[in-house]
Amino acid sequence: MRIFISLDSAAVALGADDVAEAVEREAAARGVEATIVRTGSRGLVWLEPLVEIEDAEGRRAYGPLSSGDVAGLFDGTLPSLGAVEDIAQFAAQTRFTFARCGRIDPLSFSDYVAHGGVTGLRRALAMSASERVEEVKASGLRGRGGAGFPTGIKWETVRTAEADRKYIVCNADEGDSGTFADRMLMEGDPFSLIEGMVIAGLAVGATKGFVYLRSEYPVALRIMAQAMEIARAEGLIGADVLGSGIGFELEIREGAGAYVCGEETSLLNSLEGKRGVVRAKPPLPAIAGLFGKPTVVNNVITLAAVPEIFARGAAAYADIGIGRSRGTVTLQLAGNIKNGGMFEIAFGTTLREVIDNFGGGTASGRPVKAAQVGGPLGAFLRPDQFDVPLGYEEFHEIGGLIGHAGVVVFDDTTDMGALARFAMEFCAVESCGKCTPCRIGAVRGVETVDRIRQGDETAVPLLRDLCETMRDGSLCALGGFTPYPVLSALDGWPQDFGLAREAAE
Ligand code: NAI
Ligand code: SF4
Repeated sequence: MRIFISLDSAAVALGADDVAEAVEREAAARGVEATIVRTGSRGLVWLEPLVEIEDAEGRRAYGPLSSGDVAGLFDGTLPSLGAVEDIAQFAAQTRFTFARCGRIDPLSFSDYVAHGGVTGLRRALAMSASERVEEVKASGLRGRGGAGFPTGIKWETVRTAEADRKYIVCNADEGDSGTFADRMLMEGDPFSLIEGMVIAGLAVGATKGFVYLRSEYPVALRIMAQAMEIARAEGLIGADVLGSGIGFELEIREGAGAYVCGEETSLLNSLEGKRGVVRAKPPLPAIAGLFGKPTVVNNVITLAAVPEIFARGAAAYADIGIGRSRGTVTLQLAGNIKNGGMFEIAFGTTLREVIDNFGGGTASGRPVKAAQVGGPLGAFLRPDQFDVPLGYEEFHEIGGLIGHAGVVVFDDTTDMGALARFAMEFCAVESCGKCTPCRIGAVRGVETVDRIRQGDETAVPLLRDLCETMRDGSLCALGGFTPYPVLSALDGWPQDFGLAREAAE
C-alpha cells in the first residue's frame, strides 16, 4: 500500500510531519506493509494535512487529519473525500504547470519522467534556437512574476543579443503578501523548473543559470539543491544535456529577505555580491544583465510552464484563456478565506467565482469587504468590482493588478484606513533608498495618512499629490505602485479614514 502525505511547508505547518510519523507507527504496529511517499501539495491547503491512500482503484483522500485520526484511517472508519480529482475545487481547475505537483515524489527522477517530465526538453532539443523562441511566442506565455511581459519577446531579445556569455536567472524571491505558488512548485516539482531553465538556455544560447531563492524558504532550498544534484547525475544539467553535446550549468543563490531584491535589477546586483539596489533601466537585463551580459530573468512559474508548453505544444497553452492573457494563472487565495490554497485556473474566471466557489467565502463567515490582488502593491478591490475576469488588461482597466496572482480577502470588520497606512509603511521599510519619491515619499505618506485619520481633511489633497509624485517619479514598482492600494482604499472606503465621501475627493 502506498500512502501519500505532503512535505510542503504549509502542510507541515499544519501537522503533516506528525501525521506521517503516526501513519508509520500505526502501520508498523499493525504489521501493514505501507510505503509513505512525501509529495508536494495539491494546493487544497484547507484540507491539509491531506493523506491519500492508493489501492487498485486509485487514490482516496482523507483530510484534514491529525495524528489522532490515523487509527481510524487504518480501521476504515474515517470518511473519505474520494479522489482529489473529484473534489469540486480541484475538478474545476486546469492543471498545466502544476499537473504533477502533489502526485509525485519531488525528488524521484523516474517519477518525474513517468509523469511526462523531460518530454518537452527532448522536443526542444530537436528544434533550432529560433524555433524554440517561436514556440514560446506562439504559446502566448507572459511573465508570471507580475508584469506579464511576453516571455517569447524577452527570450528573442536575449537570443539576438551579441555576447560571449548569456545567463538564465530564475527569480524565486517570492515576496508578495499572500503568494506561495513559487514555493509550492519548487517543493513539489523541482525538476520542471530545472527543465524550464535548460530549455530557456537552449533557446537564447545561455549555458549557465542561477536560481535566486529567498532564505525564508528552507524546504524549497533543500529540495532544489537535492534536485539539482539528481538532475546533474541524470544528465538533465551538466556538460552534456541528455547527450546533446550542449552544456547547461545551474547554481542556487540564497537571497537574504529584502522585498526589493525581487525586482529584477536589484536581484542581479545581489547576485553579483553587491547591495540590492535597483538599477536604472535601460539597459534592460535582456541586453546587459548579470555581470553586464544578456540575461533572461524569469519567475519560477514562467519557467516551470515551459516544459509542459513544449511537451503538449504551444497551441495547448494558447487555446486556454481570454484576450492577451493566455494559458493558466496560478491563483493563491489567502487572508480571511474559508478554503485557502493554490488553484491553477484558466484566465477569464471572475474574481467573484474565485472567492465564492473556490474560496467558499470568508473564514469568519462575515461579508467580504475587499480583496487585494497582486501583492502589497495591488489595489484593494470592492465587491462591486468582483465580476472582472482574471486577465492582465481586464484588471488594468479597473486600476487593478494581477501581479503574481495572490488574492488576499478581508471581511467587513477590516479597517481600510489602517491597510492604507500599512501600504505606505511597507514601502518606507522596504524602499532601497535609491530615489526620492519612494524613500522620502513613503515616510511622508505614513504621516499624511495619520493626519487624515486624526481628522485633518486638508491632508487629503496632499496625499493625492504625493501619490501622483510617487507613481510618476519612482524608479521601480515599489514606489511607483504603492499609491494603488493607498488611493483605492481612500476612494473605496473614505469612512475608514474618518471622512465623508465628498471630503475624500
Ligand atoms: P517591467 O514592466 O519594467 O518589466 C517587465 C519585464 O519585461 C522585465 O523583466 C523587463 O526587463 C522586461 N522587458 C521590458 N521590455 C522589454 C523588451 N523590449 N525586451 C525584453 N525584455 C523587456 O516590470 P518590473 O518592474 O520588472 O515588474 C513589476 C511587477 O513586478 C509588478 O507588476 C508587480 O506585480 C511585480 N512584483 C512581483 C513580486 C513577486 O513577489 N513576485 C514582488 C513585487 C512586485
Ligand atoms: Fe528603490 Fe523605491 Fe526607488 Fe524602487 S522606487 S528604486 S525601491 S527607492
